[in-house]
Amino acid sequence: MKVLVVGSGGREHALCRAFARDPRVDALVCAPGNAGTAALAEPRPLDVANPDAIADLAEKVDAELTVIGPEVPLVAGAADEVRARGLAVFGPSGAAARLEGSKAFAKQIMHAAGVPTAASRDHTEVEPALADLDTFGPPYVVKYDGLAAGKGVTVTEDRAAAVAAVRASLREPGDRVVLEEYLDGPEVSLFAVVTESGAILPLLPAQDHKRVGDGDTGPNTGGMGAYTPLPWASHGLSAEIVSTVIRPTVDEMARRGTPFTGLLYAGLALTTRGPRVVEFNVRFGDPEVQAILALLATPLTDVLTGRATPRFRSGAAITVVVAAHGYPQSPRLGDPIGGLATADALTGVDVLHAGTRQDADGRIVSAGGRVLSVTAIGSNLESARGSAYEAVSRISLAGAHYRTDIGDPSRMRHAADVRRADTAIGEDPTRPRNREKE
Ligand code: AMP
Ligand code: GLY
Repeated sequence: MKVLVVGSGGREHALCRAFARDPRVDALVCAPGNAGTAALAEPRPLDVANPDAIADLAEKVDAELTVIGPEVPLVAGAADEVRARGLAVFGPSGAAARLEGSKAFAKQIMHAAGVPTAASRDHTEVEPALADLDTFGPPYVVKYDGLAAGKGVTVTEDRAAAVAAVRASLREPGDRVVLEEYLDGPEVSLFAVVTESGAILPLLPAQDHKRVGDGDTGPNTGGMGAYTPLPWASHGLSAEIVSTVIRPTVDEMARRGTPFTGLLYAGLALTTRGPRVVEFNVRFGDPEVQAILALLATPLTDVLTGRATPRFRSGAAITVVVAAHGYPQSPRLGDPIGGLATADALTGVDVLHAGTRQDADGRIVSAGGRVLSVTAIGSNLESARGSAYEAVSRISLAGAHYRTDIGDPSRMRHAADVRRADTAIGEDPTRPRNREKE
């Protein structure tokens, strides 16, 4: 089978690695790709924001399966374009991709489907939005309604920053801002493959780290690292999320005549009242999928086409993002990267490329904010973590930064912490409580 992967990030390098070890795949194209995917997959120039260009390329290379990595082309209808040419594609229609393309639309679907999420209201005018900020109170959660590469969300205690975020979200006519109740709890990403026949195949739950700095400090980013599985989560967590979130959403989309197929990504906060959806995405999350695919034991084409239920090897996987100087505000590009081969040679380590390219002298240089996703597997999280950070220490990139607390059990935020915090704030900890009813 010939597979075309569309995109150029760490996610796409991870997809290429998984396809490269899939016995059904005998040819792989990654467009436009990066310096890492070029070693596994034929690179092709491509404007990923252009659905026609994607469909043209799929036709030209005779792709038997096209997998579209990023959200921008999906929201623009790229999967519809490829399907219209009679070619197989993994990804939702443009109509179904609105679940990610508009946060207000996602909220409508969640309300209609009875999916637990934060209370919210959306606004198109600055003054009513500012008045409503005070109804919600701090911490303020302000979201630009459209796609913003993970940077359209402001969560802050500072009212002035929230006001600035509202104004920044309502600059152009037609702009919309979503104000939300703050959800307290550790975050979980659950990805589910949704097949054409409506079957739902969940992958391992993972935890992303959105803030740039250790201890969840600094601005939000596209994601600075992830680990899977979650040693602190209950065994029933995935099944609970499928039945309370994924299944009702898939059913509601079908009922509206815009069935969802492809990858549904539920970003959740595990609050004391149970899991609440923070966001939907309509594609694999980056960097979570780098860790998840490192443990996938089933051929990826079988999973994406619904031929097989995904199975995972035991142990744990972690990915640590190495980011460019100045990321996320103003990443510096063009810095040479050293130590890639010695890092990659470590047992269990896979140095996945994200923002990299080969320059005219054959050197690999940074070409994006998130430069590398250093991924490692191990028999447990501690050993995976040790390998990943050992690999990171072998890499040289001037001015680079990364989080040092990915998968650190002493820093991990999990459900027990929230319960403790909740008890400390509101209740007498000596009084017995019936946990089952929470
Ligand atoms: P989103 O793009 O909607 O995923 O938001 C990015 C990040 O902002 C999330 O991963 C959370 O860390 C944070 N966030 C978004 N919505 C909320 C909320 N209602 N309460 C608390 N944090 C939130
Ligand atoms: N890991 C966050 C995202 O892909 O949106």
